[in-house]
Amino acid sequence: MTFFMNGSDSESHLDFVSFSKAVKSQFETCPFPFEDEKVLSDQSWKIVPPHWFNAVGRPGKPFYDRGRFLVAGCGTGNEAFNIARAFPNLEVVAFDASPRAIDIALRWQKASGINNVHFLQEDLLNPNLAQSLGHNFDWISCHEVLAYVYDPQAALAHLASCLSPEGCLYIGVKGTFHPTVRLAPAISLFSLSMDSPEQVKRTREVLCLCDNLMGIPIDKGIGAQPESYLKNHVFGVHHDPFPLHTWIEIIHNAGLQYINSLYTSMSFLQLQDNRFFDLLTELDLPTLHSLIDHCNPSFFHMIVASKPRMTPPFAPADKKEFLRWRPLVDLWDRTKIPAVQPPYNQVLDVTFDIPGLYRQLPLKLSSYLIEFLRRSDGSRSVSQLVAEIGVDIKVEELFTALARFYFTSLLNFLPPL
Ligand SMILES: C[S@@+](CC[C@H](N)C(=O)[O-])C[C@H]1O[C@@H](n2cnc3c(N)ncnc32)[C@H](O)[C@@H]1O
Repeated sequence: MTFFMNGSDSESHLDFVSFSKAVKSQFETCPFPFEDEKVLSDQSWKIVPPHWFNAVGRPGKPFYDRGRFLVAGCGTGNEAFNIARAFPNLEVVAFDASPRAIDIALRWQKASGINNVHFLQEDLLNPNLAQSLGHNFDWISCHEVLAYVYDPQAALAHLASCLSPEGCLYIGVKGTFHPTVRLAPAISLFSLSMDSPEQVKRTREVLCLCDNLMGIPIDKGIGAQPESYLKNHVFGVHHDPFPLHTWIEIIHNAGLQYINSLYTSMSFLQLQDNRFFDLLTELDLPTLHSLIDHCNPSFFHMIVASKPRMTPPFAPADKKEFLRWRPLVDLWDRTKIPAVQPPYNQVLDVTFDIPGLYRQLPLKLSSYLIEFLRRSDGSRSVSQLVAEIGVDIKVEELFTALARFYFTSLLNFLPPL
């Protein structure tokens, strides 16, 4: 594996000890994300959208109403505090390798009165992680951590052993199109550093310029990030970001199953012209997502994985098999889908409101499909719903129509009863 240290002229190959030491020292010197009261108050928490996490990871299960949530690599605790406050019935455990980060988190916990979170110092590379933390977590979140871990595959295998059989794991990692990757050459071109207040000022100016070149507003770009972000994410020791297909491989080798990736799904949703869509249904979901990420690289991967589980046969092998699975609209409010009238042979413009993805989705759809989605509550199989609606539709046509929703997890499938 190669490591990239922005600010140096070339890629550096570090061994396990030097890499881990450098990472530890950078987060001890500059804890992330905050040291001050923003640890508690900052609500700009844009980690995995909880509704999407739930619908993708545990379709048909109640939403975060109880269970155990593990925050792996919690830093100074902002994510853990936000989750614990938003979902007071969850029992949250949060750990980080940095003693200083945990000290800060504990200090702010005392001030907050939030008591459904338990902070502790632990290392993702501890092979006995599950003995230390437990192996029955329903949810695990590991946001912006794995780039700083020497062996992400071992880390994921350890997290896998902490998951309950039906639990799911979220991994947030930068993609190859992340702005910090695109601006990297500017660091050596302008010999930037963070070594003195004057250099920090000049570094910010150059980063703002790069943000502008990337079309990102200056006040929302990398140049406007807190010093801890610049020191760790831009100048710190970390892995060079991997494309999605590498993460899919790492997940698989760690004994987990890739379920979905948010931004890949979103870019798939933007596919406007469906004339050649059939070709895509020749691929299985991980292969399709890898292809999408190659064609349109994500700036960030928000990946959901689980223990190996039965997934619907949405691959070309046997298109008839999927007729037995029970479709479920779980991520958005199915009851708000407009009712349409028989004979269901029109093509209509509809806009679905998908708050779990923070977006509205305008689509041109056959009215039978609108009705199909409206009735997809997970209680009946595809073939039962088709019979209920009373349309005469070819299996291949239905497969293609539903695949588009399935590949983005807007439509899930529960196993046959
Ligand atoms: C960029 S911060 C992310 C913090 C938090 N997840 C967030 O998004 O706000 C990365 C964190 O990973 C922690 N970390 C790095 N290597 C680790 C390891 N092997 N085990 C546990 N935590 C680790 C660091 O100490 C640091 O606090």
